[in-house]
Amino acid sequence: MWRRPVFKRGFYEVLGLLLWRQPGLQMLNCGYSEPGFTMPEAPADLAAERLGCQLYHRLVRDVVLHDREVVEIGCGRGGGARFLAHTTQPRSYLATDASRLLILGNRRRPVPRVRFAAAAATALPLLAAGCDVLLGVEAIHPLPDKGALLTEAARVLRPGGVLLLADFFYTRETSPHSVAGFHALLRAGALSLVAEEDWTQQAVAALAEDSPRRLATIAGLPRPLRRPALSFAGTTESPLYRQLGNGQARYLFFRLQKVG
Ligand SMILES: C[S@@+](CC[C@H](N)C(=O)[O-])C[C@H]1O[C@@H](n2cnc3c(N)ncnc32)[C@H](O)[C@@H]1O
Repeated sequence: MWRRPVFKRGFYEVLGLLLWRQPGLQMLNCGYSEPGFTMPEAPADLAAERLGCQLYHRLVRDVVLHDREVVEIGCGRGGGARFLAHTTQPRSYLATDASRLLILGNRRRPVPRVRFAAAAATALPLLAAGCDVLLGVEAIHPLPDKGALLTEAARVLRPGGVLLLADFFYTRETSPHSVAGFHALLRAGALSLVAEEDWTQQAVAALAEDSPRRLATIAGLPRPLRRPALSFAGTTESPLYRQLGNGQARYLFFRLQKVG
């Protein structure tokens, strides 16, 4: 029940309210862990969330963000935006999320070059061909219409622009968030698929490594929020951890390009 879109939306708004004054918990993703992985130094306030930073770094590692106009969908608490603005120095970084409260909370902690805006991933506040890089970390699975996101990406990206996505997908073909369903949308969409990678192992390793910290945070939440938090916050107690481990889910990376 907690994993239905209506509860997820409500959960993120409540989270925004609860964490209003909290500087921590800036990353709301599985994270990425790989032996010997290196990345530029994160800002000090993200030190505890290294694995989330590694996921953002891995996402953009093969793409130039420096001096580019970058847009993020589903930015959550804004940790990824803070990390990437600090490490890659884009010309501008528009970090968007459907949750107004998360965005209002993020605006309380301004970051050079980053602008936070409340917007659905499928209706971005951008003119056509308005950005060079569009990215999203675990921002596709909440979308009921993932095809609409691909259409929006094709609208807002400049020719040659890049869409970078990392998220988990279910292998059961009847799931509304299935691997096969997303592949079909990619084939039908206007963007070219440049690369696809399976990061399931790295996501599982990150969840295992970071779980004690996350479980301690959840234990500190008000009691009614603990069950939904345990259900879809990434920990070793979550269904997602089990599903990634037993093949019912896969964690995938996609890099697409607007040709032209
Ligand atoms: C799992 S969190 C990921 C947050 C962030 N990318 C990170 O890695 O920390 C998913 C985010 O997607 C946002 N979201 C849900 N539905 C959305 C939609 N239709 N458009 C834009 N964002 C949405 C939620 O509010 C939430 O902040």
